[in-house]
Amino acid sequence: MSLFEPIRIGALDLPNRLVMPPMGRTRADDQRAPTALMATYYRQRADAGLIIAEGAQVSPFSISRPGSTAIHNAIQVAGWRRVAEAVHAAGGRIFQQLSHHGRRVLASRLPPGQAPIAPSAIAAEGFLETREGREIFAVPRALTVDDIARVVAEYRQAAVNARDAGFDGVEIHGASALLVDQFLRDGTNRRTDQYGGSAENRARFLLEIVDAIGGVLGTARIGVRLSPHFGGDGIVDSNPARTFSTVAELLGTRRIAYIHLVESALTPPADRLSAALRTAFRGPLIVCGDYDQASAEQALAEGRADLVGFGRLFIANPDLPARFRHSSALNTPVTASFYGRDARGYIDYPTLDDLKAG
Ligand SMILES: Cc1cc2nc3c(=O)[nH]c(=O)nc-3n(C[C@H](O)[C@H](O)[C@H](O)COP(=O)(O)O)c2cc1C
Repeated sequence: MSLFEPIRIGALDLPNRLVMPPMGRTRADDQRAPTALMATYYRQRADAGLIIAEGAQVSPFSISRPGSTAIHNAIQVAGWRRVAEAVHAAGGRIFQQLSHHGRRVLASRLPPGQAPIAPSAIAAEGFLETREGREIFAVPRALTVDDIARVVAEYRQAAVNARDAGFDGVEIHGASALLVDQFLRDGTNRRTDQYGGSAENRARFLLEIVDAIGGVLGTARIGVRLSPHFGGDGIVDSNPARTFSTVAELLGTRRIAYIHLVESALTPPADRLSAALRTAFRGPLIVCGDYDQASAEQALAEGRADLVGFGRLFIANPDLPARFRHSSALNTPVTASFYGRDARGYIDYPTLDDLKAG
């Protein structure tokens, strides 16, 4: 098994198994719409088997840092259309990651009178650095059952918007302590209704989103990202192996395109959950986190995954597949420009062809 063996995931045939995972780079405009610069950035990376575009907020009530993107209005859809068209014109394939930050949304970024939302009224631990200084997370408002239906409808509409923008599918952001993750874990979800308690109940919100989007795009165009090892913001679960195996099994019954598991290549074998999730899910599995070519090939050879995400390596190497193929040296990612606002450190990493041309 090699990174260069083609694979079918859901409704899509991929020419290789290198995935560019979602990475917010804060180059959107003030309307949270993608810019021409972003279309260039994604086009440069179209040789990936699959690009998953950075997390875009599904709701006007979920706002991340300045320069981050959203996909709930027509201006944003027009910006994303430019991105999808550029990638397709260069022969690539692209999904849109859909996110809602839930209790991680800073109250100061919301319209007056709005509070962040979450499954339960438990604040995230810690703070975010903003231009105005540190802001601690507010205690969120626990969603009512009617509110949950409205948020599920926002995800559905965002997926329709992504389809209208020309994306090949969507990835539901169920990782990184964001809203879906807040529902999945019993430390942040203390509900006593049908959305809390058992792992099946905690997965209900995610499954309702999958079913709502599946009704318009088909489940073969849906991926789900999960990060059972993530512990930021004080998010915890009393039994991640059981919780996430249950989630994977339920997603398997929907025959979605893939699960995208954030699990570092450095995770000790005894702590890995990839095997358990794979058995439970039975569909294509992407793993991502600290992989290089050798550890990725090893993960494929050992049957631990079907595809591998390379985040920071794709930031620094627009032609990463060609570099792997030819065992060429790699550019080094420059952390300082990950969240920049202009072209520097964004679209100016050289390709092998640029270097040859001198
Ligand atoms: C600048 C930056 C932005 C990121 N933004 C997102 C995001 O929007 N959604 C997400 O699920 N993960 C995000 N991530 C995490 C990456 O998708 C990936 O999991 C992480 O970089 C680990 O992979 P790597 O070791 O290959 O870089 C981001 C990572 C970086 C470096």
